[in-house]
Amino acid sequence: MKRIPLAALALALLASPAAQAQKKPAAAPTADQKMKQFIDGLMGKMTQDEKIGQLNLVSVGFDVTGPVVSKDVDANIRKGLVGGVFNTFTPVAIRKLQEMALKESRLHIPLMFGYDVIHGHRTIFPIPLGLAASWDMAAVEQSARIAAEESTADGLDWVFSPMVDIARDARWGRIAEGAGEDPYLGSRIARAMVRGYQGPGNDLTKDNTVMACLKHFALYGAAEAGRDYNTTDMSLQRMYNEYLPPYKAAVDAGVGSVMSSFNDVNGTPATGNKWLMTDLLRKQWGFKGFVVTDYTAINEMMEHGMGNAAQVSALALNAGIDQDMVGEIYLKNVADNIKSGAVSKAQLDAACRRILEAKYKLGLFQDPYRNVSAQRATSTLVKPEFIAAARDIARKSMVLLKNERSTLPLKKTGSIALIGPLANRQRDVIGNWSGAGDWKQAVSVEQGLRAAAPSLKITYAKGANIADDAQMLERLNAHGGDLELDKRSSEEMIREAVQVAQAADVVVAVVGESQGMTGEAASRSDIGLPGQQLALLKALKATGKPMVLVLMNGRPMTLPWENQNADAILETWFAGTQAGHAIADVLFGAYNPSGKITATFPQVVGQVPLYYNHKNTGRPFGGEKLDKYKSRYLDVSNEPLYPFGYGLSYTTFSYGKPTLSKTTLSPTETLEVKVTVQNTGNYDGEEVAQLYLRDVVGSISRPVKELKGFQKVMLKKGESKTLTFRLAPNDLKFYNNDLKFVAEPGDFKVFVGGNSRDVQEVSFKLAAK
Ligand code: BGC
Repeated sequence: MKRIPLAALALALLASPAAQAQKKPAAAPTADQKMKQFIDGLMGKMTQDEKIGQLNLVSVGFDVTGPVVSKDVDANIRKGLVGGVFNTFTPVAIRKLQEMALKESRLHIPLMFGYDVIHGHRTIFPIPLGLAASWDMAAVEQSARIAAEESTADGLDWVFSPMVDIARDARWGRIAEGAGEDPYLGSRIARAMVRGYQGPGNDLTKDNTVMACLKHFALYGAAEAGRDYNTTDMSLQRMYNEYLPPYKAAVDAGVGSVMSSFNDVNGTPATGNKWLMTDLLRKQWGFKGFVVTDYTAINEMMEHGMGNAAQVSALALNAGIDQDMVGEIYLKNVADNIKSGAVSKAQLDAACRRILEAKYKLGLFQDPYRNVSAQRATSTLVKPEFIAAARDIARKSMVLLKNERSTLPLKKTGSIALIGPLANRQRDVIGNWSGAGDWKQAVSVEQGLRAAAPSLKITYAKGANIADDAQMLERLNAHGGDLELDKRSSEEMIREAVQVAQAADVVVAVVGESQGMTGEAASRSDIGLPGQQLALLKALKATGKPMVLVLMNGRPMTLPWENQNADAILETWFAGTQAGHAIADVLFGAYNPSGKITATFPQVVGQVPLYYNHKNTGRPFGGEKLDKYKSRYLDVSNEPLYPFGYGLSYTTFSYGKPTLSKTTLSPTETLEVKVTVQNTGNYDGEEVAQLYLRDVVGSISRPVKELKGFQKVMLKKGESKTLTFRLAPNDLKFYNNDLKFVAEPGDFKVFVGGNSRDVQEVSFKLAAK
């Protein structure tokens, strides 16, 4: 592919007086010095308006998540008033806009192209909550790597991922987009994702590496009452120990950019929060990249009550927000704010510089097209290896929640009644935030089962609508949905399903949420099965046929009846392009499920927020029936339906008593914990062995358990392996009342097991010296 020569621009810049002055350094300049020299030269030529233009990120195309759209995009590109573009891809579309910037704007500064590549680009992987349930860091990294290969081949430079917001409230629809409730696992996944996107050395000049964007900074997942965009307010101790670690892990891994969140953080919206964006992110953590807002988040500070357009624009720039996503509020206000003294020229320069640095690091000044071509796109996108990986990763993400009397795996002979509104859905299986994925290439459960078992008699009946409320359906379809309301009465649909069930050996009911019921602006106050699906299941149960539930959903759900009455339950999330094949692999036993949930499933919605790593109260409830004055509910126990880390296999595993290399540890020593895990069942299988720690006495109250390690191991039938976990000095530390990261001498408990509840315990002491 022919590259547009930028040599002329580079030469012109180097010939500038500022560059001339630095032309003969004593020693060879470092990469950073070269970058600085280049950007000094470029900025020396830029007008104030052109600098403000770099701060402007515009959206073109379809995927709009707010009420405002970018206008006059072409004209603004030509005037040098656009720094980056998102919501478009393909070599042709990107080349057209890039050429406009390069040929028709005064300084020919290349644009940077971003997109919401969240769980795959063209080849779609399981939604992030599902991906996390694999506990397989190589698989997580591989999914991001493939997304980087595909998105760069499609002309993109920048992906709005990873989303690392800790979420403990299943009502929040965006719990689907992150790794769940745990800061340790979340941090491991954040690192794996950044590495997958940006490559092991963070070399963004490569054709196939893409700049990641850590989001949503910060605490977006702690929205009050699980309602999207809502306020967050929490102690600094909770913030540092429980919510910030995954963001910091991504920064430490070298993430190139950060997106500010919509929410208020302890009284100041994140997007205007100088403490967050400058003191913490840049000064304490040493973040060197740039910060972009979320969609129109600066403008929204007016609704937060932070002032008028000029004031919120100044607030954001002074806080350290570099780029304005869609809001165009910088474009309209920064010049006046400089005039009035509300912001300084230096502040504008700093923001502009950080965006130009990102472009420089991406190699855009060398090759603004990053070697994109139609040919490369054709040979890269959705290639067979990627499809194979999507199937494998999808299988790994699935969690077996129940399996009585070995109902699963299913036989490939006889007959099954395939029931449920999600059984033949292609659009739903790829989940939301899969904008570049073609759902017509996705495999539904029905297609997957038929392909895997051609001689099995499969009869389908819908049984229920995913939602019966026409308005809800309209809302779900507003952003790319294709749900149709079956006009038959619920009784009629159930009657048909029951007839189909009666004629079959086993019922496979594919139920859950439609993809649009999770994700952004998709909070739910009831997290049970929507519509008449539970009524359908009750009728199916009455047939007496074995009943397997295949769940599709993007959040923990309340499933008490289902857990009591189904014979088997397989959680499949929204598993991506290859969902149907992957589900068939698990249902027929070609793959033995190995996933474990990473967000607690409550019994009833009134228990949320419910999470395993909670603190004890002064009146912990031990389960005694008549113990009234305890921290408990009158009408439900404190236990979850399924605890964090839970998931079954077709085989069983037993754990020996963990042993410790020492029972007294000095603060600089590493503790080794060994445990023998045995496959005691009838299938080869993988187990995720988990290690938790409790700091028994602390200067602040400490969680009852915290994940500090895990290993996913393959064990053949009958095989046992001794696993070694290492607890390094930092694993014993936490942020104390002064926000110092310390380990406090005293007693610790170590727990090892196959989930956060069923564990074996040993103790050790941390000595003062
Ligand atoms: C979402 C972000 C997303 C952005 C751009 C916002 O509404 O909160 O996660 O990256 O839109 O599409």
